[in-house]
Amino acid sequence: MSTKPYGVNELREMFLSFFESKGHLRLPSFSLIPQNDASLLLINSGMAPMKPYFTGEVEPPRHRVCTCQKCIRTGDIENIGKTARHGTYFEMLGNFSFGDYFKREAIHWSWEFLTEVVGLDKDRLYPSIYVDDDEAFDIWNKEVGVPADRIFRFGKEDNFWEHGSGPCGPCSEIYYDRGEKYGCGKPGCTVGCDCDRYMEVWNNVFSQFNNDGQGNYTELAHKNIDTGMGLERTICVLTGKKTVYETDAFTDILAKIAELSGKEYGADEETTKAFRIIADHMRTSTFILGDDRGVSPSNTDQGYILRRLIRRAVRYGMQLGMPDGFTCEIAKVIINQYRNAYPELERNAAFVIDQLTLEEGRFARTLKQGNKEFDKVASRAADGKIDGETAFHLYDTYGFPIEMTVELAKERNLTVDTAGFEEAFRKHQELSHQGAEQKFKGGLADTSEETARLHTATHLLHAALRKVLGDEVAQKGSNITAERLRFDFSFGRKVTKDELAQVE
Ligand code: GLY
Repeated sequence: MSTKPYGVNELREMFLSFFESKGHLRLPSFSLIPQNDASLLLINSGMAPMKPYFTGEVEPPRHRVCTCQKCIRTGDIENIGKTARHGTYFEMLGNFSFGDYFKREAIHWSWEFLTEVVGLDKDRLYPSIYVDDDEAFDIWNKEVGVPADRIFRFGKEDNFWEHGSGPCGPCSEIYYDRGEKYGCGKPGCTVGCDCDRYMEVWNNVFSQFNNDGQGNYTELAHKNIDTGMGLERTICVLTGKKTVYETDAFTDILAKIAELSGKEYGADEETTKAFRIIADHMRTSTFILGDDRGVSPSNTDQGYILRRLIRRAVRYGMQLGMPDGFTCEIAKVIINQYRNAYPELERNAAFVIDQLTLEEGRFARTLKQGNKEFDKVASRAADGKIDGETAFHLYDTYGFPIEMTVELAKERNLTVDTAGFEEAFRKHQELSHQGAEQKFKGGLADTSEETARLHTATHLLHAALRKVLGDEVAQKGSNITAERLRFDFSFGRKVTKDELAQVE
C-alpha cells in the first residue's frame, strides 16, 4: 500500500476535486440541524439534507453534486473511545446523482478513487452487495474484475441504506482489510465482522425507493446515487493508525487535553478512554454550537443531545483533573483547526464560548455533590437496581442526564429503572405545569421579579424580531441578570437601522 502522508485536509480536497473532474458540482456542507425533516434530530449523512433533490420535490443546482458534510451520529455513544471507528461527529464525503448516472458509474468511480487516486491496495479491498443484487455483482465481477469469492452478499440489515423517512435503497459497500493484527482472532472473522480488522470505507447506495416513514416503499420517479465515505475513518486506514483518534483530525485536540490535564494520552486504558471521550464530545458540541442554526443546551431535542455530550465531557474532564473552563480551551483549538473548511465556526465562535462557559459552569457546580450522592445511592441500591425516583432526583437536583446515571450504574454492575424514571419525570412535569400560573421565576439561579420580567421580555423581543425579519431569525442565547438582558440571535445579514427601530 502506498501510505502517503495524507491528512484530513488533503483527502477532503482530493475527493472533492476528483468528483468535480467527473462533472459534479461541489457544494458546501449543509447545516447540522435538519430543515423540514421531522424524522431526524441531526444530520447524519451526506444525503440527509438533500432528500428533496432525491425525491424530485426540489430541482438540484446540478444533477451531479459532491459534498463534505458535517455529520453526527450519537446512537453509538457508549462505544466512543472503545473501538477504532466510532465517533459521534465525523465528516462524510459523498458524490450524488439525482436521476443522472446510476450503478455502473458509481461503482467504477469509487474503485478508481480508492485504488488509483488514494492508492489503496486492491487486493485488500472487498465489496459487499445486497443479497440479490446481481446487477451490482456483475459490475464488480465482470467489469471491475473483483473475483467472485471476494464479493460478499449481505441482507437488509447490512446492505440496505435508510435513516428516517425518505429516499433509500440497496447498497454496495467497500471494506478494507487492515490485517490480522487489528482483528478479533475469532474463528469466522471476515468481512462484516464487528471488530476493527475489516473497516468499511465506502458505501454506494442505489437510492431508488421512498419510505413514507410508515414502512411503505414506493419506486422513486428517477434512480439516484448516494454515496458516503467517512473522512476520519479513511485517513485512519490510509495511514495505518490504530484508531481515528490517532489521525491528524485529533492531534491538536489531544495535545490540548494533555497540556490542560498534565496527563498523557495512552498512559493507561482509563486515561485513553477519557481523552477520547472528551475529544470526541467536544468536537461534536463545538460543531453543533458553531452551526449557523446552532442550538443551546436544553432538555429537549438537539439541545438535550448537546447537553448530554457536554456533561459527559465535563464528567470525564473532572476524572482527568481538568481545570475550570477547559471545554472552551478545547473548543478554541477545534475552531482554529477547522476554520478554513467550516468558516461558520469562526463566525459563531463567541456563541460557542458563551454557551460552553454557561453549561460547563452549571454542571460543574453540582457534579462533585452529585458524584457523592451517586456513591451513596449505589451503596444502598437494593437488588442491584437504582429506582426511578432516585434517578430522577439525580437528574433534577444534580443535572445528571439519565443516560449518565445508567452509564455510572453499569460501571458498578447496577441497573436503573428507566421506566420508573420516565414516570417520575412525567409526574414532575404535570406538577410543575399545574403550578406554573406564572409561580414563574426566571432562571434557575436568579429568582428576582425583575429577572422574571426580563425573561418574558426575551420572548417578546424574539417574537418582534421574527415579525420584522421573518422566521429565519434564530435565538442563539440570552443572558439575563437583574439589571439587563442580552439577546443573541442569528440572521443571514446585517439588520438595518429602520428594521431595528421597528423591532423596538
Ligand atoms: N448515505 C450513505 C451513507 O451514509 O453511508
